[in-house]
Amino acid sequence: MLDDKILITDGKKFKRVFNINSVEKVKLPTGEIDGEKLKEIQKGSSFIVNNRRYYVFNCDLYDYIMYHLTRHTQIVYPKEAAYIMVRLDISPGKRIGEAGTGSGALTAFFSRAVGKDGRVYTYEKREEFVSIAKKNLSRCREFDNIIFHHKSIEDGIEERDLDAFFLDVREPWLVITQVREALKPSGSLGILVPTTNQVSQTIESLEDNNFFILEVSEIIMREFKINAQRLRPKDIMVGHTGYLIFGKKVVDI
Ligand SMILES: C[S@@+](CC[C@H](N)C(=O)[O-])C[C@H]1O[C@@H](n2cnc3c(N)ncnc32)[C@H](O)[C@@H]1O
Repeated sequence: MLDDKILITDGKKFKRVFNINSVEKVKLPTGEIDGEKLKEIQKGSSFIVNNRRYYVFNCDLYDYIMYHLTRHTQIVYPKEAAYIMVRLDISPGKRIGEAGTGSGALTAFFSRAVGKDGRVYTYEKREEFVSIAKKNLSRCREFDNIIFHHKSIEDGIEERDLDAFFLDVREPWLVITQVREALKPSGSLGILVPTTNQVSQTIESLEDNNFFILEVSEIIMREFKINAQRLRPKDIMVGHTGYLIFGKKVVDI
C-alpha cells in the first residue's frame, strides 16, 4: 500500500511524502519539481534544484507515520512503538487488542507485525477519530487484518483470549477489568500515559486486578547532528512523550 508513495528529502529539514501517481508539482525549499519529471526519477537516486540535492526514496512505514499521517490526536511514536512490539511479543498470527485507535499510528505497526493470519481489534470511542484512522490506515496497510470498533471499552471488549492488549487512553485504570476479561492467561498488557500521577493510579488498578507488573519505563532518544568531524547531539530534543507500563495477566488457581 505504500508502493505508490515516495519520500523526498534534502538530508536536512525537508522530508515530505508524496503520492507519485497524483502529485502535480512539489514545492521544495529551493524551487519546485514537476510531478511528471519526478516519476522518471528512480527511487534511491537524487536530483538537483537550484544547487540543492534532493533524494528520492521508498516511503517506509516510519516516513508515512511521521511525515504524512493525518494527526488529530497525539500518536504513539516509533521509538515507543518498536519497544512496545518487543515487550508485548507481537509476531505473525497473533491476536492483539488496543484502545484508543486515535489516528491509527500504533495500529499500523501492529497490523504489519501480526500479518495476514493475525488480527488487530482496535477500539475508539469518538466517531471522528474512527474515520480519520480508517482513512490513514487504508493508505498504508499491507494486510486486511484490522477490526475497527466504534465503542468505549468501558462498555466492554468483545473479544476473548487475546494474546496482548495495548492501552493508550487517558484513564486506563477505569478499564483494567475489561482488558483482563479479554486477555488469555499470561496475556501481555502494555499501557502508555504521559504523566506520573497517571502511572501511580494505573499501578494501583493493576494490583487490584491481579496483573503482574513487569516494568515501568520511559524511552529517551537523543539524535545526533550528522557531521563526522564534529559529531555531537542535536541541541534540541523531544524531552518527553510518555511512560510505559507492562504487565501480565495472572490467573489464580
Ligand atoms: C492518544 S489517542 C491514541 C493514539 C493512538 N495510539 C495512535 O498511535 O494514533 C487516545 C485515543 O483514545 C480514545 N479513547 C479514550 N478513552 C477511550 C475508551 N475508553 N475507549 C475507546 N477509546 C478511548 C480517545 O478518543 C483518543 O482518540
